Amino acid sequence: MNITSKYMGLHLNNPIIVGSSSLTGNVKSVEKCVKNGAGGIVLKSLYEEQILSDSDTLINQDEMYLWYPEAFEYVNKLSKEEGIDQYLNLIKVCKKAVSVPIIASINCISPEEWPKFSNELENAGADALELNITIFPDSDTLSCTEIGEQHIKIIHAVCRNVKIPVAAKISFYQSNIKMMARKIAKAGAKGLVLFNRYYRPDIDIEKMVLTKEETLSVPEESTLSLRWVGLLSGHIPCDLVGSTGIHNASGIIKQLLAGASAVQVCSALYKYGIYYLRTLIEELEIWMRRKGFSSIDEFRGLINQDSKNSASWERIHFMEKTRTSNIRPIGFD
Ligand SMILES: Cc1cc2nc3c(=O)[nH]c(=O)nc-3n(C[C@H](O)[C@H](O)[C@H](O)COP(=O)(O)O)c2cc1C
Repeated sequence: MNITSKYMGLHLNNPIIVGSSSLTGNVKSVEKCVKNGAGGIVLKSLYEEQILSDSDTLINQDEMYLWYPEAFEYVNKLSKEEGIDQYLNLIKVCKKAVSVPIIASINCISPEEWPKFSNELENAGADALELNITIFPDSDTLSCTEIGEQHIKIIHAVCRNVKIPVAAKISFYQSNIKMMARKIAKAGAKGLVLFNRYYRPDIDIEKMVLTKEETLSVPEESTLSLRWVGLLSGHIPCDLVGSTGIHNASGIIKQLLAGASAVQVCSALYKYGIYYLRTLIEELEIWMRRKGFSSIDEFRGLINQDSKNSASWERIHFMEKTRTSNIRPIGFD
């Protein structure tokens, strides 16, 4: 059985990439992921601020980092010396230690100065770059259009500096995702990761303070990226990756059926252990065998080949569903 996949021209032994996180922040853990079957690795992000060596003016007052798991603490700890060298070394040792694609990741918000550095990541041996573009839609000064343009400028600037493929990992907070995806591809990105997941706030009603909701995702969250992978696949000239809430083999299969080249998993591995990658692969193979598929390409995007499905990605036909289904509010006779 052939479960290999191609993502941005990179060969993946299987379509399961371990997403950027502390699981991919050191070589030991990366080796463990690969030993258990990871098809590719996105290294933990390097922050634009580390590259600019501007840790004095880091994010203390910058609300955007409050959206992001781990980031506040992580970026606050940075010093001017550490960071870049360690990161370049991480790429080098991971490339030596494992044979799957190593994708470096940069968490960025601006197209200024730092993109010149991206070719150092390439020179260190990274097979590709993932840009985690973290511009939040709560600016008093930037319009939707300007936020979109900022994404494009970043991608342009990085693609000008490297030959390796570049992917954009974007948030769901875009005003027109399809148009944005087209512009991202036109700017040079070969991959689009849908979507990043941010810190989610909660309120403790006893103490009446803002708290952090559970850092890990839940499987129900996967429908967001599933819809957009389905809507974009076949319409955007770049490879799509489903990310967020993919916790089991059925979540992976759905993304592939919708047209994804690969998926990224992260929370599920924190929850069940890195060994769980083996289960995901086994269950993917069992399903393929049961359905008579001998390669991923035989069923990738299959759902989208049926044109009547395109409307269903957009509308859920609520009226029709509630009329015909057994959904009844409690107490309704
Ligand atoms: C503990 C933790 C650390 C993370 N660190 C990063 C990071 O450095 N860079 C990044 O792009 N995403 C980071 N993420 C986000 C994940 O890569 C991923 O996009 C998100 O968790 C959604 O995928 P999941 O539902 O499989 O967890 C982190 C997530 C977690 C839980």
